[in-house]
Amino acid sequence: MTTIEAPRTPVVRKKGSNLEKWGWIYMRVSGLILVVLIFGHLFVNLMVGEGISGIDFAFVAGKYASPFWQAWDGLMLWLALIHGANGMRTIINDYVTHPRTRAVLVGAVVVAAAFLIVLGTLVITTFDPCLGFDPATASDTISSICA
Ligand code: HEM
Repeated sequence: MTTIEAPRTPVVRKKGSNLEKWGWIYMRVSGLILVVLIFGHLFVNLMVGEGISGIDFAFVAGKYASPFWQAWDGLMLWLALIHGANGMRTIINDYVTHPRTRAVLVGAVVVAAAFLIVLGTLVITTFDPCLGFDPATASDTISSICA
């Protein structure tokens, strides 16, 4: 029989850092920062200026020409993906009891999150609106940037 200890029972650790504690703290700290990043992102994209109807390729090109928005979106990408992946790890650990199934599922979450972080970071840092620029077909905004 497994006895579940009272929630406040102190854990005496023999060695090493308490990764689960740091994971718990990360979820709260990243959650707080994400509130600012996500609502700031939605406000600027959907409500400022022309609002949602102003979003097009040139709008995105303009944002990624600015180191401020590159940093904003990069931070949002890293914090949200690590937060989401760690949250999924918690849910898998709560529901999946078979050790190998659990390892496979947590492994899949880690691979997916790492892949999306690498891909997203590459897009944010290497985005070039003038790639394949053709003056004959480009819009006025893109022509004014790339010509
Ligand atoms: C608006 C900003 C956000 C805040 C304030 C926030 C806050 C939190 C907190 C405090 C937890 C821990 C709950 C617990 O341990 O009981 C949590 C869990 C979680 N979060 Fe977020 N979060 C935010 C955004 C996100 C985003 C963008 C994602 C997806 C990418 C996400 C996915 C998850 C998942 C999957 C869990 C685990 C849920 C569970 O344990 O049942 N969250 N969140």
